[in-house]
Amino acid sequence: MCVPQAPADGILKLSVLSRADSHPAKVDLGVGAYRDNDGNPWVLPVVHEAERRLHSDPNFNHEYLGVGGLPALTSGAQKLIFGKDSPAQGRVYSMQTISGTGANMVAAVFLKQFKEPSDACVYISKPTWGNHRSIFETAGHKVLEYRYCNYETLKLDIDGMLDDMRAAPMGQIFVLHACAHNPTGIDPTEEQWREIAKVMKERGHFPFFDCAYQGFATGDVDSDAYAIRLFVAEGFELLVAQSFAKNMGLYGERTGCLHAVCQSPSVLPQVSSQLNRLSRATISTASAYGAKIAGTVLEDPELYGEWLMSMHDMSKRILAMRWLLKNKLVKLGTPGNWDHVTEQIGMFSFTGLTKKQVEALRTEYHMYMTDDGRISVAGLNTHNVDYVAESIDAVIRT
Ligand code: LMR
Repeated sequence: MCVPQAPADGILKLSVLSRADSHPAKVDLGVGAYRDNDGNPWVLPVVHEAERRLHSDPNFNHEYLGVGGLPALTSGAQKLIFGKDSPAQGRVYSMQTISGTGANMVAAVFLKQFKEPSDACVYISKPTWGNHRSIFETAGHKVLEYRYCNYETLKLDIDGMLDDMRAAPMGQIFVLHACAHNPTGIDPTEEQWREIAKVMKERGHFPFFDCAYQGFATGDVDSDAYAIRLFVAEGFELLVAQSFAKNMGLYGERTGCLHAVCQSPSVLPQVSSQLNRLSRATISTASAYGAKIAGTVLEDPELYGEWLMSMHDMSKRILAMRWLLKNKLVKLGTPGNWDHVTEQIGMFSFTGLTKKQVEALRTEYHMYMTDDGRISVAGLNTHNVDYVAESIDAVIRT
């Protein structure tokens, strides 16, 4: 066997580099994981409470979950994403997955096996989350890009996006970020989503939504589900990958779901049987611990309400950091326009820094961000934001 070296993952390699760097001024703005104002991971109070309840239950055990995952999780997750009185009710199959990545992978394999036309390609936004291409190519798809970010203005290239959707052959698969686009933090407005839905319908394209940041874009879970609910209301058949890594802070517990919205309830048995088969073939049964925590939070109205408040707090802190960073850059007179820092939403800001500047920040200032200039704004805090702005200022002026 001759096995060539695989390239290192652009996001995960940063965590390794950052961990190995003991410089006191180090700032990790790499992986998209929430940090508190002291730079520490945050276990949400509702997660602590759900864990306390689980461990005080005398019937708590580590048995396998059933096929499809934990019902408390999958039904709560379905309501969260589609809303309580969704027109999709009765024709959605929701299956637990290994977080959002697992949902992407199961969806990718499912689409590869059943897509129509069978030669449909998968279109990802330019740019997109570093793992999308790898997942869909690993599942055997041909992956192409549609325009998304205008790299000059750091705003949405809506005309380019719609033109690429129109120019693509009928019936292609489009990977869409439901909210808080990763890596750019640039989301379509509601009006733009309506245009996107219109063009996709005209062209018979299939929407695959990746939803990893519900609650992080606007701080409101319903607003952040706008695009998905719009497409459902427009009668699309679609798939949604949903992660509880960020919004419930369950990163390592790998808790998520894949939702398949079918045209009619009559095809649910076939669709669910195939998704269950793929799940069994890849992970056998889903992981239980995070699902029990999330299921407890989603099922209990009191915990659910507290969770919404925590999400709101996280998104508020991130927004405050955006303003601190921008104001400091403006105050320093750093060349360029920094409005995009506060206009973009969610966990990330696409700074516009070049690869060379990113490298200089890493090697000279111990600051870690992805090569494309994406920063995880959650890594900023009141102790490091001045240093970050001053370092950015310095590398831009050299
Ligand atoms: C990120 O983009 O940083 C996160 O989604 C973490 C990951 O798995 O890449």
